[in-house]
Amino acid sequence: MNCAKNAPAAPQPLSNLSLESRNTFGLPAIAELAYEITSPDQLPGLMAHTLSEGGAWQVLGGGSNVVLPNMLSGTTLLMNISGREIIDSNDQFIEVAVGAGENWHDFVAWTLEHYLPGLENLALIPGTVGAAPIQNIGAYGAEVADYLDSVEAFDCKEQAFVTLSKADCHFAYRDSYFKQNPGRFIVTKVVFSLPKAWVPRLTYVDLTKQFADNASASALEIFNGVCKIRQSKLPNPKVIGNAGSFFQNPIVDTTQYQNLLALHPNLASYPDTNGTRKLAAGWLVDQCGFKGYRAGPAGVYEKQALVIVNHGGATANDILQLANTIQEKVKECFGVELQIEPSVL
Ligand code: EPU
Repeated sequence: MNCAKNAPAAPQPLSNLSLESRNTFGLPAIAELAYEITSPDQLPGLMAHTLSEGGAWQVLGGGSNVVLPNMLSGTTLLMNISGREIIDSNDQFIEVAVGAGENWHDFVAWTLEHYLPGLENLALIPGTVGAAPIQNIGAYGAEVADYLDSVEAFDCKEQAFVTLSKADCHFAYRDSYFKQNPGRFIVTKVVFSLPKAWVPRLTYVDLTKQFADNASASALEIFNGVCKIRQSKLPNPKVIGNAGSFFQNPIVDTTQYQNLLALHPNLASYPDTNGTRKLAAGWLVDQCGFKGYRAGPAGVYEKQALVIVNHGGATANDILQLANTIQEKVKECFGVELQIEPSVL
């Protein structure tokens, strides 16, 4: 009798796989060796082998927040673990477990189809569910951390599966324990906790404007509103390659903020935790005159200075050279360092 009949099939090695259609920048990357991961059970064996050889490895989800080199060496895990399931419900919360390979936006749409509001402000963010906790995706006044219960992951250091609670994840603006420990965790599943007592979040200025006459908007209306705003501001990667915001909004202390404000009364910024201030990187880049700027095949999106685009045929070098030009100019004009948001592999 074959006792192994429930074991997942070992993933097939894919050599010299083109990743051009698997990264939203449309960069011409080749993965030296790739595996499609459809079940967590495939990871212990595969990672034991990869780690024993001392080779580099990386996970590719939706490829929407990465700058890929022409040749991606080592092992690339194409995250494709699926599944969306309501796992628990009490008076206050409904818990939903989702496979890391699920598309983020499709999952948000699914929650609303199942009358589970909460994630609507995070509609249309590209990428996968597994990538969401890594950089704590956020938009329009919400962050994934606000709705997350726990994360299941394969810990390559311990070579074991672990469950990290929300507190274990050390979430901050575009940051997490996963990001602070690169090369350690492979997220396989995310459990969300959606509050039954739903309240609309309309404080972000674009939403306040859009819903000025409709303070009792439903979650579905907010979902549609967010989609509309994002479509009007951000380029569709299927039309023009990009990775969303290319720079993080820099956080400065009160003194630096006051000094900048005195020089630039229109400075766009948001209050941040502990009295610090988050500056709008898009505003800083825009003020330096970069909107619509082109440097060969790389450019700055004409409607949103925070987005670097591939006009066709760009490589990681073209994108990073343009990013460097922008960083230097912003530093020169405002004395502020811009950090790149996507992972540069
Ligand atoms: N601004 C300009 N010029 C520009 C772009 C922005 O002056 O070219 C000004 C705007 O007028 C506004 C301020 O900068 O006063 C902020 O702009 P916006 O509302 O477009 O948002 P953001 O702070 O630039 C952040 C996220 C986005 C997210 C939006 C909405 C970061 C780095 N970016 O952008 O996230 O969608 O808020 O919540 O935090 C992403 O991470 O890929 C992303 C798109």
